Amino acid sequence: MAANCRRKVWLNLLNNAADAIGQDGVIFVQSRRNIRRQGIEISVADTGQGVDKKHLGKIFEPFFTTKQVGRGTGLGLSVSFGIIKDLGGNISVLSPPPEEYLPGDFTGSEHHGPGTVFIVDLPMPRTK
Ligand SMILES: Nc1ncnc2c1ncn2[C@@H]1O[C@H](COP(=O)(O)OP(=O)(O)OP(=O)(O)O)[C@@H](O)[C@H]1O
Ligand SMILES: [Mg+2]
Repeated sequence: MAANCRRKVWLNLLNNAADAIGQDGVIFVQSRRNIRRQGIEISVADTGQGVDKKHLGKIFEPFFTTKQVGRGTGLGLSVSFGIIKDLGGNISVLSPPPEEYLPGDFTGSEHHGPGTVFIVDLPMPRTK
């Protein structure tokens, strides 16, 4: 799979987080080895407005967007979902993010929303 294609996954997650936080939010990117699943976990967490409970099950569907016309096509996460599945991985969302994904006293503070985290699990690349 082209690197350019994989790059879109991270660009979309970062753009979504940037759209969500507004002027003064925080985006927290973390990666760690997941020994149990023999893979790596990369998470993108933000202190933005969060995802409405009723939308949590829909955001990976093609054309689902809450953005204004012309601002979002609603394809970013559905395309990313496909790319990550093709790589044998998984993507999930939690809103608000558990503390381990957004350390510090950001959530619930005056200037920020509940926040969101996208967790991407990828299999460890095979060594030759
Ligand atoms: N970090 C986030 N915080 C809050 N809501 C989010 C976040 N990421 C995604 N969403 C919600 O999920 C929807 C779908 O995201 P997706 O990336 O698929 O499409 P989009 O950003 O609306 O448009 P596109 O990515 O095609 O420009 C968004 O419109 C938004 O409602
Ligand atoms: Mg997007």
